[in-house]
Amino acid sequence: MEQRVKRGGFGGKLAAILAAAGSAIGLGNIWRFPYITSENGGGAFILIYLGCILFLGLPLLVAEFAVGHNSKCNPIDAYSKIRKGWGWLGALGIVSVFLIMGYYFVISGWTLNYTLASATNSIGGDFGGFFSAFTTATWKPLIFTYLFILLNHFIIIGGVQGGIEKASKVMMPLLFAILVVLAVYSLWLPDGREALVNVFTPDFSKVTGKTFLDAMGQAFFTLSVGMGAMLIYGSYFKDGTKIAGTAISVVSLDTLVALIAAVIIFSAGVENESGMQLAFVAMPKVFSTMPMGNVWATLFFLLLGLAALSSTISMHEAVTSYFVEKRGMSRNKGAIIVTIGVLVLSTVASLSLGDWSDYKVAGMNIFALLDNFTAIVMLPLLGILTAIFVGWVWKKEDMKAELTAQGGIDQKTYPVLRFLLRYVCPVLVSVVFVFGIKAFIENL
Ligand code: PHE
Repeated sequence: MEQRVKRGGFGGKLAAILAAAGSAIGLGNIWRFPYITSENGGGAFILIYLGCILFLGLPLLVAEFAVGHNSKCNPIDAYSKIRKGWGWLGALGIVSVFLIMGYYFVISGWTLNYTLASATNSIGGDFGGFFSAFTTATWKPLIFTYLFILLNHFIIIGGVQGGIEKASKVMMPLLFAILVVLAVYSLWLPDGREALVNVFTPDFSKVTGKTFLDAMGQAFFTLSVGMGAMLIYGSYFKDGTKIAGTAISVVSLDTLVALIAAVIIFSAGVENESGMQLAFVAMPKVFSTMPMGNVWATLFFLLLGLAALSSTISMHEAVTSYFVEKRGMSRNKGAIIVTIGVLVLSTVASLSLGDWSDYKVAGMNIFALLDNFTAIVMLPLLGILTAIFVGWVWKKEDMKAELTAQGGIDQKTYPVLRFLLRYVCPVLVSVVFVFGIKAFIENL
């Protein structure tokens, strides 16, 4: 009980929505979604993706909020408090989110360099050359990554309300403002509207089993589900914060931002570029041909950086909360341990693109390994396990009380949600998971 008094929490409903939307909206929306979409046939992929968000992502997000809100604990204690012997599920999430941080912070660091380079007009004319020279260098990307990690650290040690909530309240409105300015501008471009129609027109001939795996992985990644980040935020919700309503707001905002980001990027006419190149090479190139290109490029990378930062704080918090609550450390000490761990892992990830690129595991450098292993193996696995936990392991009456009385879900919607969590999520995700692993291994 004593812990309850000491625990931090969000001040109100808006803070809960902004922080959780901040976790969801990240590199996944602006950097990853557009290129995954263009690789998978545009409009057809978007339709499948929206299905995954609605029928898998949203129920899982509600489930994760509910576990956090019900237990008011860090991810490990949360599961074991609801059902003894299930703490490992929280631990699995914490390990996964730590691995994600390893490469996520590296890309976040790049956004800082690109914001600065755009503002000072120093990218030059060779965009691909600039990108590969920078990302494969030894020190430069490391310094920017460390700066970003430091920024993140200061927000975390500010506490839940003084750090995370305050930062979210400043960053999220700024992010939305930049997004709207860029979207309006891009729709104004002469080729913009035409490029858009092309991208959003469904081309079902490109749809394969892999499309479903990509869509599901993207849905889980973008909603931050399964890894304890949303669980810990759910545990900070003030009493009276409706779980279902918050989840719906977060999912709507996240989807809106992903679609607008795709509009911005594709209306620039870059739909044939793929991979990481799309945001970091194609976009600066397009901006350079526009009037006031520097300003647009700076805004774009600032947007990317803000989105990344509001996500990294949720990842860091999920792990820090474990050290604080389970290991009894002060917040400062717990945060430092996580920060040092992240520093080491991201150093390895960054160097694996350059100096250490010869060192490969299963044909991948460490950076790609962290990305692929978490996206293809851990995310679906955690999705299945979370659904099983909430749908089958959690005592029926307790779960119902949490979701209906506290969560704000009405009696008609509740059975639908329970059905999705008990049957649809575990079965569908397992099928996609098995096929995904098969395809992944065949491709090695
Ligand atoms: N949802 C974030 C994004 O789209 C990534 C993330 C994953 C955040 C896991 C927290 C936990 O970029």
